[in-house]
Amino acid sequence: MDKIIIEGGRRLKGEVDISGSKNAVLPIMAAALLTEEESVVTNVPSLWDVHTMVKLLRSLGAKAILENGCLKVKPGKNLKPLAPYKLVKTMRASVCVLGPLLARLGEAEVSLPGGCAIGPRPIDLHLKGLEALNAEIMIEHGYVKVRAKTKLRGSEIYLGGGYGSSVLATDNVMMAATLAYGKTVIENAACEPEVVDLAKFLRKMGAKIVGEGSPRIEIEGVRKLHGAEHQVIPDRIEAGTFLYAAAITGGDILVRKMEPSHLNAVIDKLHQAGVRVEKFKNSARVRKNGRLKPVDITTLPYPAFPTDLQAQAMALATVTPGISVITEKIYPNRFMHVPELGRMGAKVFLEGPSAIVHGVKKLSGAPVMASDLRASAALVLAGLVAEGATEVQRVYHLDRGYENLEQKLTSLGASIRREKE
Ligand code: EPU
Repeated sequence: MDKIIIEGGRRLKGEVDISGSKNAVLPIMAAALLTEEESVVTNVPSLWDVHTMVKLLRSLGAKAILENGCLKVKPGKNLKPLAPYKLVKTMRASVCVLGPLLARLGEAEVSLPGGCAIGPRPIDLHLKGLEALNAEIMIEHGYVKVRAKTKLRGSEIYLGGGYGSSVLATDNVMMAATLAYGKTVIENAACEPEVVDLAKFLRKMGAKIVGEGSPRIEIEGVRKLHGAEHQVIPDRIEAGTFLYAAAITGGDILVRKMEPSHLNAVIDKLHQAGVRVEKFKNSARVRKNGRLKPVDITTLPYPAFPTDLQAQAMALATVTPGISVITEKIYPNRFMHVPELGRMGAKVFLEGPSAIVHGVKKLSGAPVMASDLRASAALVLAGLVAEGATEVQRVYHLDRGYENLEQKLTSLGASIRREKE
């Protein structure tokens, strides 16, 4: 297993390019199953999750080739409806093949995603949505089996529970509805940019969709979809991670090939923290502007502050004088990074879904354990500013979602290297 070693204390300076979005490309890859024809997707990041999805597409019978950021998927006529445990257990996003397989084949059998380090992640909304489209659902032997009773039929669906909206449930229902008979209305749809990107790809395939990016998406089913070409949007969470890297090291970075409007809530919080962020068309320059100030942050669905940047924001709060309160509303247990940051000298107290962070003058480098993708990113950020060496173990979590992280940080002046354990 690899580990990453960081010698802290260097200001980051320079320019960095952001890769394509992990959370946009994964459902787009699943959507390619909605036709037998070939689709071509570009700006595809080389990440573990993407490689897992390539394996899953192949195991379903599709041809899938990823070379130099360009992915070609040709599902052909003979798709299989089964997504096996051995692939699904390594990546929860595999669940987004459920909608496309159901729409194409009239049936799908997908291993139920199991436990997850960031807390319980049920799929009841996915199933509620597909059921409303006239599918019957069975859960047997760890698998969810969905089958169209006759043909999938459009329907009006309120896709919510006691919390906000669900990104992948919106994706699954939207994908299934593209080939259903008649009109589907999804109320309380997720508004994340990744959902918008998926809708754009589906439209290029011939789907009739309006309203993506708002809580009401309307889909008029069509008989057939065709292959399409699409460029994936930049990864807003990777871009946000680099904004925090500049802020925490007191650096000056131009983050390029990003979409600043996808990060308005984050940039607003950085401004409040005393960090200067200038937005340009496809880039942003971030510089520390004097003393850091504490800010309170609550994670919520888009366009509010994303849960996927909560841990990185906490890393900054640990070295910000004063008290910051960070409240996690999407995954109330997503605090696995807290004890690890504590090993580096951070003072963070958990109270229910809130973390009360008392800023300290210095963090000190230590061996720490990555528990999930974004927690790992927070530990790397903390390592960049800590005194001495930080060793982040279980780096495979980072490899799931950050492309060339060490290379990008090295080019900005960080001292960071990977070693085999
Ligand atoms: N929820 C339910 N029932 C459902 C679905 C969701 O109760 O059927 C709850 C979840 O437990 C959670 C909330 O709804 O409390 C939102 O979860 P959502 O379904 O939106 O999450 P997701 O679609 O499974 C995607 C991202 C996550 C990101 C979340 C929230 C992908 C592949 N994953 O997951 O990304 O945290 O949306 O924005 O798009 C990451 O990249 O590190 C990551 C975890």
